[in-house]
Formats: sequence, C-alpha cells, structure tokens
Amino acid sequence: MNILVTGGAGFIGSHTLIELYAAGHTAVVVDNLSNSNPVALKRVAEIIGIESIPFHKVDLRDHERLERIFEEHRFNACIHFAGLKAVGESVEKPWEYYENNINGTLVLVDVMRKHGCKNIIFSSSATVYGDPAEIPITENCPKGQCTNPYGWTKSMLEQVLMDIQRADPEWNVVLLRYFNPVGAHQSGRIGENPNGIPNNLMPYITQVAVGKRKELGVFGNDYPTPDGTGVRDYIHVVDLAAAHVCALQAIARRCGIGIYNVGTGHGYSVLDMVNAFIRVNGVDVPYSIKPRRAGDIATCYCDPAKAKAELDWEAQYGIDDIVRDSWNWQRQNPDGYPAV
Ligand code: NAD
Ligand code: WQD
Repeated sequence: MNILVTGGAGFIGSHTLIELYAAGHTAVVVDNLSNSNPVALKRVAEIIGIESIPFHKVDLRDHERLERIFEEHRFNACIHFAGLKAVGESVEKPWEYYENNINGTLVLVDVMRKHGCKNIIFSSSATVYGDPAEIPITENCPKGQCTNPYGWTKSMLEQVLMDIQRADPEWNVVLLRYFNPVGAHQSGRIGENPNGIPNNLMPYITQVAVGKRKELGVFGNDYPTPDGTGVRDYIHVVDLAAAHVCALQAIARRCGIGIYNVGTGHGYSVLDMVNAFIRVNGVDVPYSIKPRRAGDIATCYCDPAKAKAELDWEAQYGIDDIVRDSWNWQRQNPDGYPAV
C-alpha cells in the first residue's frame, strides 16, 4: 500500500517508516517539523536503503497544500501521528493543543474523504482511560476523565473518528492506544529527541547517564506499588511501529472500527527501569526521591490480548532490549540530531 504518514519525522513515525518499507509498503511523509528534524528522515532512508523518503514540509491545518499533496499522490491509507504531545505544556497552552491536534485532524479527514481515501490509523494513548477502572486495562475498560488537555484531544479525536465511520461505513478507523513508547532503532541512528528538559522517564534516564543532567528525580515512592514508585507498560518503539503494519492488515480486511491497546502487558516501576538500565549498560544513573508529580497515577499496564487475537501482533522486545537500545541511541547522539 502507499501510506500517508503524518508526523513521520517524529519519534514513532520515523520508526514506523522502516517497518512499513520492510513489509513492502511505500510512504509519503507530511510533517511541519514543529517537533522534529529532517535528519531523521535522511537516516530512515539510509536504514531502508533508498535514496530518500518522499517528504512535504506542510502543516496539516494548511487545507490547500494538503489538497495539492492528495492530488499529487494516491494513498491507500493514512497513519496519523502528527500532533503536539507534551502533557505539561498542554496545561499551559490548552488552546494551542486543541487547535493543532483537533483542527489538524479535521482538515486531514476532510481532504481524505474528498479524495476517496477513507482508511486511517490514529495514534491514541492509554491516557484516554484516565485513572483506569481496572488493571490490566482491556479495551472494554471505560474511558475516563483525562487530567490534561493533551489527553482530551486524544479522547475527543477518538470520538470524532468513530462518529465519522458510523455515518459513512466506507471508512475504516483503527485507534491504537499506545502505552509508554520507549527505546530506539537497534542501529542507534534514530531515536527520541526531546526539546529541552525531557518530561518522560526514559529520555531523562539516558540524559543523566550521558552526563547532560545531574540526577533523575523519581516522582514519588509512596504509591501502592511493590516498591512505591509508579508502574507503567513500557513498549519498545520498534514493536509499536510493527503494530501499525499489522493494523494495515485489519484495514485491508475492512475492519470498520478497531480499537487496540498497544503495550506489553507487563508493568515496571521507575526503579525497575533505572536498575535495568544500570545492570544492562553498566552506566550509573544517580537519582533521588522527589514529591509525586501532579496528575500521575500509580499503575498503568494493559492486557494486549485483543491485538494478539485480531491483529496477530504482540511485543517481541523486553525491558533489557529497551534500556540497551535507548542507551545506544543516546550515547551515539548525545545532543540528538544535528541542527539543520
Ligand atoms: P513527535 O512529536 O516525535 O512526533 C509528532 C510529529 O508531528 C512531529 O514530527 C511534529 O513536527 C509533527 N506535527 C505536529 N503538529 C503538526 C501539524 N499541525 N502538521 C504537521 N505536522 C505536525 O511525537 P511521537 O512521540 O512520535 O508521537 C506520535 C503520536 O503518538 C502523537 O500523536 C502522540 O500524541 C502519540 N502518542 C505518543 C506517545 C509517546 O509517549 N511518545 C504516547 C501515546 C501517544
Ligand atoms: C513514567 C513514570 C513518572 C519522569 C506520559 C503521558 C501519556 C503518554 C506517555 C502520550 C511515572 C515517572 C517520569 C521523571 C519520574 N503520552 N517519572 N521522573 O506519565 O506514564 O505517560 O507519556 O500519550 O499520556 O502522560 O510517562 O515517562 O512521563 O512517566 O519518576 O523525570 O516515570 O512519575 O511514574 P507517563 P512518563
């Protein structure tokens, strides 16, 4: 299939491009580079072994330019990664998050339907479950109250896409609810490249390990978990990328609406991650216990059985692979991608 990949220069999109080409698909990337670097696309092309990835530096909200891209290319489906994703920033700038994520998706869907491309895979998030009613979280678990505008954009866009599919059954909509994406491509050439101080655990750990930050703050050790620190379902980004290729097969089978948790089904605490990182990589990660971070929940991991049963997808990589590949990326690229 020929796939439109919005946000393809970003962390998850860049890894997904590799899996798409490995499975025999082709892709065209649309990204405004607001949170990414074109060097990622250059490296992706090198890994795949092609000259370049077709790329348009375009903002999804630019209706006219998106139209022109659809006139130039014929797409079988869209994998829609583009969006703003920083939880804390979304609390400070709610308008910007709603405007970018929701308008961007509405424009995209409008142009898609006008051009008869009615297949979309949407990057949703475990955050739509709020403080989950049950652990492990299945797709039957009710959606909850999000604690920030970012989360609400995901929850609302799930609803928008489902309503559009119900009104026009020609659509196939796959909602992938990612748990905690981490790790990097085994080559160490592409990985997560956060701007400024990382918000998320894994890039913080790797930046401490490489000497860019003094110590990791562990946000709370009094949660009702085995060691008191927060427990999450960390999923290797290469596994996550592969889930999108499997989701394309669901689209080919005309799935209508498909909702899937994408996680490993295993929960690891903050200290499990730190200790695995130290053990596997032989590098120290100084840390100290800090107060809880507002909005955090104690435990979040999924039951990934539905994705296994219906998409024939399951995670292949474990915690040791995750910490090894995260470190391999960070130490080869201590300052992330070079400035362009
Ligand atoms: P990322 O920021 O690395 O990638 C997103 C890409 O979208 C960036 O390259 C950015 O430049 C681009 N973009 C943003 N707004 C755009 C617009 N209006 N037009 C065109 N391009 C635009 O993020 P990621 O970690 O790769 O996440 C990809 C998707 O998965 C996002 O939708 C994110 O919300 C979702 N998600 C991420 C996580 C996570 O922890 N990384 C977890 C759950 C869901
Ligand atoms: C993991 C654990 C922290 C940083 C976020 C979003 C979620 C999804 C994935 C997009 C928690 C602890 C972290 C640090 C720490 N994104 N921690 N010190 O919060 O589970 O999920 O990313 O959809 O919506 O909320 O991920 O990596 O920030 O935190 O102790 O410096 O690590 O308290 O227990 P989170 P995270």
